[in-house]
Order: sequence, then structure tokens, then C-alpha cells
Amino acid sequence: MSDLMQKIISLAKRRGFVFPSSEIYGGFSSSYDFGPLGALLKKNIKDQWLQTMLNRQEDIVLLDSAILMSPKVWQASGHLTAGFADELVECKKCHKRYRLDEIKGKKCPECGGEFTQPKQFNLMMKTFVGSTEDEKASAYLRAETCQGIYVNFKNVLNSMRLKLPFGIAQVGKSFRNEITTKNFIFRMREFEQMEMQWFCDPKEADKWFNFWKQERLNWYFDLGVNRKKLRLREVPKKERAHYARQQVDLEYQFPFGWQEIEGIHNRGDWDLGQHQKHSKENLSYEGFVPFVIETSVGVERSLLAFLTDSYKEIEGGRTETTKVTKKQEVMLAFDKRLAPIKIAVFPLLKNKPELVKKAKQVYQTLVPYFIVQYDESGAIGRRYRRQDEIGTPFCVTIDFDSLDNDDVTVRDRDTMKQKRVKVAKLIDYFKEKLCF
Ligand code: GAP
Repeated sequence: MSDLMQKIISLAKRRGFVFPSSEIYGGFSSSYDFGPLGALLKKNIKDQWLQTMLNRQEDIVLLDSAILMSPKVWQASGHLTAGFADELVECKKCHKRYRLDEIKGKKCPECGGEFTQPKQFNLMMKTFVGSTEDEKASAYLRAETCQGIYVNFKNVLNSMRLKLPFGIAQVGKSFRNEITTKNFIFRMREFEQMEMQWFCDPKEADKWFNFWKQERLNWYFDLGVNRKKLRLREVPKKERAHYARQQVDLEYQFPFGWQEIEGIHNRGDWDLGQHQKHSKENLSYEGFVPFVIETSVGVERSLLAFLTDSYKEIEGGRTETTKVTKKQEVMLAFDKRLAPIKIAVFPLLKNKPELVKKAKQVYQTLVPYFIVQYDESGAIGRRYRRQDEIGTPFCVTIDFDSLDNDDVTVRDRDTMKQKRVKVAKLIDYFKEKLCF
């Protein structure tokens, strides 16, 4: 693992973004828990995605379908057959399993043992519903949220009186029994997806595919991701998902290489066609089965991209303190909309009750409107750095002048410029700054 990844993982744990799951029991392979700041960051990413989709609410509606569905859904979608399997090889000596497409040599990298012949390994996560544990009671945790959208196509169409083209958006958990998980939260067995399925006339599918490809790239640009670290990759036929006629992967340049963070797919009439065939329900619209253009992104995977992209190490000298100590400063330069904490409030000195009292009043004024942190411990410079390290865009300091003038100093994370703002104007000031 690269040095940079190690630093990001350690910051993520130390500052409450991501914890290994079940840590007090020694952890649970490839599961992670999102701490207070990670949970806020995830929420902000989902909010931004939903807001972008629902900005088009005249033609995109929301859905929240169940994780557990009839196993017939997965039979029809092709997920229970070869379509949704990875090729697996096992080391004959140490029995470690690998995805065939991930091994470089002919021998096990752990012990040098020989591999078995590749075999298909289905990624659906199986469970039982009800009190019996036989085959009849078996069910699957969904492997993609969009199947819930396809099986509700007619329900949504009829209840909302929609006309083609239109989209259905959904955010929720998906599960895959991945053979290997690695690179921190990049590939996990439980993750969240943000998926939008755009139903259109087959004749217009190419046009919409190109449209959504660009829209999705713009979403990352707009949220400040380094343009040089994003690219679209046309996926060749032999690599495409079983349902995809056309597939573009939106890739980010992680410290471990260019990797997919989002897939944009032209799924044609595969899904509605299959569900129509298997359920015998008519899923056509004005005499044809609509084509589907899908945009699908993992919340955690995009979070890892946002986290990596915003991680900055600034050599000593950004602040007065580090000019002297020459210490490196770490900053998460999140877009303000993504930053977990929006504002930090400090009394200049902890041992002056009048400053503490005023700072707590200012904190209480802001709390109903923004996610705010109060901090009175340590030197002021150190408190600024603690906030820079978690990406807080604004710090508010209450000093002695604040007591006379009823104002505060607002310090901007990126420019480090300081500005005096009246307490009475503070809410409006931040509403404007934080894009409300
Ligand atoms: N409905 C289409 C679909 O699920 P996919 O390319 O298999 O397509 C879409 O997945 C996105 O979901 C990926 O680009 C990635 O962001 C996320 N994703 C998929 N498998 C994942 C895993 N094991 N862990 C974390 N995120 C995952």
C-alpha cells in the first residue's frame, strides 16, 4: 500500500471518518464503519447527488425499494447465472483465493503454490427469510439497487403519470460477495449505491447516453475534483457487464492507479425485457420496451475519491506557528458543500469566562442552521490546524473586541483571510457562503 494511502487511512481513523468494523473483536474482513465525520461526509455526498437528480424533478422521481426481493428478480436479471460471476483461482498450498483477472504470475504471491483451474464464483449474497433454512426459504441481498427500479417501472409510471423519457433515482445499500477486497473502502462486500435509470425511446438511447456521460463528469468537476484525475474510459465489449450494450467507466486516479468510481451504461431493453419475459407482465410503453441509460456510483468509492483528492500536505509556513516550527500541515480542501463540519467556534482563551460564555452563545446561534463544532482546548493555531485537517471551511474566533463590538473573526480555510463579522449578521453571512 502506498505511503499516501497509509496516511489517508490513518487520518480517516484518527479523525473519525472511517473505522474498521467490529474492531474490538479483531475486525471483520473488508467491512468498515463510518464515524461521525465519515457519516456526515457520506450524507453530504448523497445530498449533492440527490439534489442534482431532483433538480430535474419534472422528469426524475425518487424510489426507495426493498433490499430483499423475490429470487425470481435475480433469476430474470441474469445475476444468478454466469452473468454475475468472477473467475476464481485457489492456491493449492495455502488455499488463498484470488480473482483471475487480478493475479499477475502463475504462482500464489503469498506462498508460491500452484493455482487450481479457474472456476466461476457467483457474487450474490445469499440469506434465508423466515424460520426455515431450506432452499425454498433462500433469498438474496440485492447486488445493485436498480433491479428494484425495473420491477417498479409500471408502478411508478402509472402512479406518477409520467411520459418517456424519464428517470427513477435511488440511493441504498447493495451487497456482493467479492472474492477479494482491497484498497481500504474501494471494494467492499457491503456498500451504498446512487443509481439513476433513465427510460427512453430506443431511437434516442445514444443521445441520452452521451448526455448522461457528460452530466456525470460535470458533477465531479463542479464539486471541485481535480480535472486531471478524472477520465472517461470506453469499456470494450469483452469487459462489459452482461447487461451493457455500451459502457463508459468514469475513473479517478487513486494512489493505487486509475480505477472506476462510476459506471454509465446503455442497458438497452435487457432488464425490462427479461422481467417482462419472466413475470409475464407487460412492461412496454406505447408498443415498445424502453431502453435504459443508467448512471451508477458507489457512495464510499466516490467518498474515497473526494477524500484523496482533497488531501493536501502543505510544507511549513502556511500559518505563523509553522513558519517557526517548519512543520508540515495537513488539510482536507473539501468543497464547502461536502465538508462534514461547516464552522468551528473558538473562544480565544479558555480561561476567560466572558470569552467562553460569548463563544458558547455564538455556537448556539449557529447550531440550528449549520453543522458546527465548538473547541476551546489548546492554542488557537493548533485549533485552526485541527479544523484544516478535517476540512472545516470556516473558523469563528471570539476575542476581547468581540465583547465590546458584538462581532467575531471569521477565518477562511483556503485563503486564511480573516474578516470581522457582526454576530447579528453571522447566520446570513454563512448562509451566503455555504451556498444555501
Ligand atoms: N447497476 C450497475 C452496477 O451496479 P457496477 O459497475 O457493478 O454497476 C457501479 O457498480 C458502482 O458501484 C461502481 O462504479 C462502484 O462505485 C460501486 N461498487 C460496485 N461494487 C462495489 C464494491 N464491491 N465496493 C464498493 N463499491 C462498489
